Amino acid sequence: MNAANSTPLTARRGGPLQGRTRVPGDKSISHRALILGALTVGESTITGLLEGEDVLHTAAAMRALGARVERTGEHAWRIHGVGVGGFAQASGPLDFGNSGTGVRLAIGAAAGSPVTTTFIGDASLSGRPMRRVLDPLERMGARVIEAAGDGRLPLTIQGAADPVPIVYEPPVPSAQLKSAVLLAGLAAPGETTVIEAEATRDHTEKLLKHFGAKLSIKSHGEHGRRITLQGQPELEPANVVVPTDPSSAAFPMVAGLLVPGSDLILEAVMTNPLRTGLLTTLREMGAAIEAVATRDDGGEEVADLRVTASKLKGVDVPAGRAPSMIDEYPILAVAAAFAEGTTRMRGLKELRVKESDRLEATAAMLRANGVTVEIDGDDLLVHGKGNVAGGGEVATHMDHRIAMAAVVMGLAADNPVRIDDVGFIATSFPGFVELMRALGADLS
Ligand code: S3P
Repeated sequence: MNAANSTPLTARRGGPLQGRTRVPGDKSISHRALILGALTVGESTITGLLEGEDVLHTAAAMRALGARVERTGEHAWRIHGVGVGGFAQASGPLDFGNSGTGVRLAIGAAAGSPVTTTFIGDASLSGRPMRRVLDPLERMGARVIEAAGDGRLPLTIQGAADPVPIVYEPPVPSAQLKSAVLLAGLAAPGETTVIEAEATRDHTEKLLKHFGAKLSIKSHGEHGRRITLQGQPELEPANVVVPTDPSSAAFPMVAGLLVPGSDLILEAVMTNPLRTGLLTTLREMGAAIEAVATRDDGGEEVADLRVTASKLKGVDVPAGRAPSMIDEYPILAVAAAFAEGTTRMRGLKELRVKESDRLEATAAMLRANGVTVEIDGDDLLVHGKGNVAGGGEVATHMDHRIAMAAVVMGLAADNPVRIDDVGFIATSFPGFVELMRALGADLS
């Protein structure tokens, strides 16, 4: 995608948002289900798969590495995997588009097969750090054949014929990094251990167990975990039910809080405790979000959430909460702009290396619409006044979450907000604009 085919959109304040809605499947679980299905001999099935561009790139990559990957119906997929260490030589580069999760997890999985693979992506992905994954994978025996500056894409790696298990402490809290090491560890004999100082989303661990791998998970320090995987397991084909994505639910949720008179139900929102930092924070700000029904969906707790328009107040968000809401800061910053008082979001260094420099992009999005914002080291401060002037144009920088956050801001601001390009929303939340319109949003 480039400026020539960008899709602008204007979001305006209208009547209250009302109704019931269900957001698409979780992006993190969707990538992992495809990759683990590809690493398992036999037929696995997935229902509820997110059919966004990011995940479709992962599906295509698994196919290129030798797995049979078929769509059997809406959000329903079937995979015949090749087994751990069994990837075939791909005939060309694997294109991951905009997706950091897809490429980092696939690099980990490919590091455990003796094949040479080239990974490419769009301009945003090509600017993102890959060194963090390459370092541990090189220790495990993978070789970097070619890479752009600092280990960035385009990147060619040769997987290890005999990978070596390691004990690894990621220098940053990152579920992608943890997952890359665990996926490579599947092909290594003995135990591969990842020690996290701060626990990050545990979908890889849960799915590895679901596919029959042996894993021990212990607490480590106050907030961390020590995860040990037994290498070379006999993975068993599995059926994966993908619950909805709380990072997508975040957008209609905050819209429901901000647009006066709104009252909506978000169905079956995944409430995995390592993903609920936004829910905790919004409730601290005074948000009326009520779990009206809870149940289990595919091994995850999900809840129907009733969201009603609320007056919010500024809060201090501790750095330790960041891993459980790392993708939610742009939309939290929008909520904070409509709150009374200052919200300080601490410890956001990792936001600088997302689909855009999300710290700068979030601040610019708000400033362009009359909100007072400061960046203080790794903290973002939003000085809320209870309303937002709007009337500005937001540059999305190829970042789906900046685009969706800006749409939500426009639905509650005094003046319309124009977004330069909403095309990238399709990477994670296909149907977002239609879903918001069905709730009553004025988007044109
Ligand atoms: C993800 C982990 C997070 C998150 C991303 C999805 C995952 O990235 O931002 O959207 O599925 O593992 P990091 O691991 O880089 O924090």
